[in-house]
Amino acid sequence: MNIRDSRPGDLVHIEAIYTHHVLTGTASFEEVPPSLEELARRRDDVLARGMPYVVAEMDGRVIGYAYAGPYRLRTAYRYSVEDSIYLAPDCMGRGAGRALLLAVIDRCAMAGCRQMIAVIGDSGNAPSIGLHRSLGFEPAGLLKAVGFKFGRWVDSVLMQRPLGNGDASSPAEHR
Ligand SMILES: CC(C)(COP(=O)(O)OP(=O)(O)OC[C@H]1O[C@@H](n2cnc3c(N)ncnc32)[C@H](O)[C@@H]1OP(=O)(O)O)[C@@H](O)C(=O)NCCC(=O)NCCS
Repeated sequence: MNIRDSRPGDLVHIEAIYTHHVLTGTASFEEVPPSLEELARRRDDVLARGMPYVVAEMDGRVIGYAYAGPYRLRTAYRYSVEDSIYLAPDCMGRGAGRALLLAVIDRCAMAGCRQMIAVIGDSGNAPSIGLHRSLGFEPAGLLKAVGFKFGRWVDSVLMQRPLGNGDASSPAEHR
């Protein structure tokens, strides 16, 4: 398996993976799959902010992707990022999620980010909670029943891990 920076040509595969999860799962609170153009716009926005957008490739096939974007847009949040990660349904549980998230963590730390937050759709999302826990994320809160999808209320699980020096020092460069 190979983890690499994404390319525009990967977006058709990313669209297929994300469409599956939007239509069948509660990890994403989107209910209508975004178009290819919208996914391209979102990727451009991530890259323009200097944040990573990576894919996992196996035997030449894109089997998953992950990226980080701003946690929230107000300026004092600028050293905090939120991760997103999705795998093709036939490729889960084989270490690809771990490799993708590690790559995003490393790149965000190198870029000077200090905190990473996971906003996990559904308190029953054992794979995502387990993945984040295994990479040093700690529980940071539970927002109960903030989503309603497939006819039921859905929680958001918040998890957080420091990057680099975390809050042990001020950022080297103020941006
Ligand atoms: C969540 C997801 C990205 C995890 O990726 P994955 O490739 O299946 O996970 P990995 O095989 O890399 O496992 C990584 C860790 O997660 C844990 N994990 C994986 N599946 C798990 C499960 N079903 N239950 C509990 N823990 C699990 C493993 O313990 C593993 O830890 P370890 O390496 O210390 O043993 C993937 O399952 C997925 O795409 N799920 C649907 C979409 C989603 O929920 N995305 C997250 C949005 S916040």
